[in-house]
Amino acid sequence: MSHTFDISVDALTAPVSAPSVANGWPIRASDCAEAGLQMPLGSGRTFYIETFGCQMNAHDSEKVAGVLMARGYRPAKSMAGADLVLYNTCSIREKAAQKVFSRLGEWRGVKDKTIGVLGCVAQQEGEEIFERAPWVSLVCGSASYRKLPDLLAELESGGRRVMGLGLDTEETFETEMTRRDNPIRAYLTIIEGCNYACSYCVVPRTRGPERSRASEAILAEANRLAEAGYTEIQLLGQTVNSYRDPSPRGWNFSRLLRGVAAIPGIHRVRFATSHPNDFGRDIVAAIEDTPAICNHVHLPAQSGSDRILRAMHRTYTRAEYLGKILWIRAASRPISVTTDIIVGFPGETEKDFQDTLSLLDAVGYDGVFSFLYSPRPRTSAAEMDGAVPEQEKARRLALLQERQRQIQLARNAALAGTVVEVLADAYQAPRAQWAGRTSSNRVVNFVSSHANLLGEYLQVRVMRAGPNSLVGEHAV
Ligand code: SAH
Ligand code: SF4
Ligand code: F3S
Repeated sequence: MSHTFDISVDALTAPVSAPSVANGWPIRASDCAEAGLQMPLGSGRTFYIETFGCQMNAHDSEKVAGVLMARGYRPAKSMAGADLVLYNTCSIREKAAQKVFSRLGEWRGVKDKTIGVLGCVAQQEGEEIFERAPWVSLVCGSASYRKLPDLLAELESGGRRVMGLGLDTEETFETEMTRRDNPIRAYLTIIEGCNYACSYCVVPRTRGPERSRASEAILAEANRLAEAGYTEIQLLGQTVNSYRDPSPRGWNFSRLLRGVAAIPGIHRVRFATSHPNDFGRDIVAAIEDTPAICNHVHLPAQSGSDRILRAMHRTYTRAEYLGKILWIRAASRPISVTTDIIVGFPGETEKDFQDTLSLLDAVGYDGVFSFLYSPRPRTSAAEMDGAVPEQEKARRLALLQERQRQIQLARNAALAGTVVEVLADAYQAPRAQWAGRTSSNRVVNFVSSHANLLGEYLQVRVMRAGPNSLVGEHAV
């Protein structure tokens, strides 16, 4: 099995293109028995999942792959060779959603495959997908993945069209069988859905209301990951820091961070995405006290203008946001800060846009993911007046990206000559160069006289800095 990622919509980091590993593959009957499952109905059939969207989607695909393998499906090497083809989709912007239908078009009239649509487009479009692409036989949103085994059973016993679109679930999609694809960094969902109501955003509808997992279950999974050899864990949630432990011990997010970081063998704990409204000083304190908690916070601002923030229903003002940045900047350990910005929200004036540019200067971000506003179905912003012409949106985006490029260049240049700790996660053979990330999530390309550095923590001297990465030498 393999995933394709749409990097343009990946909110935080371009995924590492790591070699596929065989953790838990192929699944054995004994694994199924251990997980309390019966061995396979759909034995021998093969599947392929193509994934679009954010890290939560990428990780959901790993969970779905685990569920399929527990039913006896085997991963196919290519889509063409698979009996079951699944698209795990994203609908955050119009382009992402359109891409799904063009991909589905490639299977028009196909008879010998089962085609399914998962994820945010599945949830948003529902039955409409069967209308537009009648060769699809499975539509299931992320809040219903717990039902996937039943839906598959229905298909296996001759069902033609099955759907899972419930959003009222109280539970999360936990699975013992997750088939992780990245051998370096393990993703771990701690909270699903979103209870905010940003006026431009589809996520509360596509992923349903917020549900947190019990801290005991999270720690148990993190312990298993450490035992399996993972040293870096990334905690995931659309608003990861809104985490509220539903179990009696009632941990908040910073307590959970400390708990995961204390697990023997875990060297790095990352988390994304934080909502500014729930970002407290306790999170900064946890990072200060705990070297294993990465010194990086992704804190989407979306805009630097109070007027636009209000229209977006973001629940904070520019001053409140900057107040939180001050806590971060006052920390005893430097903490890098990245953000998401939407350009060209309805009614955004030149003055509002200038406020966003000045926010970039005021914060001094280490990275910015910037997007052209895209009107989405059934969001209140789509009904607002004052659409910004496409050309003007593009002009503003280019200006913003150039301003941020300069800021990053200066921030990265300040690191030249220092030694940073890098977790090596890729080797680029043509250039004989290794790549990895710092705790602050900077990409470092470096040369080394050593072989087999994958998964190693190394001291690397920074020789040069570009806006998006550093170039270094492995200091032995
Ligand atoms: N839960 C995260 C973000 C989820 S979506 C948060 O609250 O910050 C990732 C990013 O996509 C958002 O931060 C926003 O910048 C962008 N985005 C969401 N909806 C969009 C839309 N309709 N048009 C353009 N960008 C959008
Ligand atoms: Fe969307 Fe806002 Fe929820 Fe983030 S907090 S997922 S932007 S509604
Ligand atoms: Fe896209 Fe859904 Fe993630 S809309 S960004 S895949 S939550």
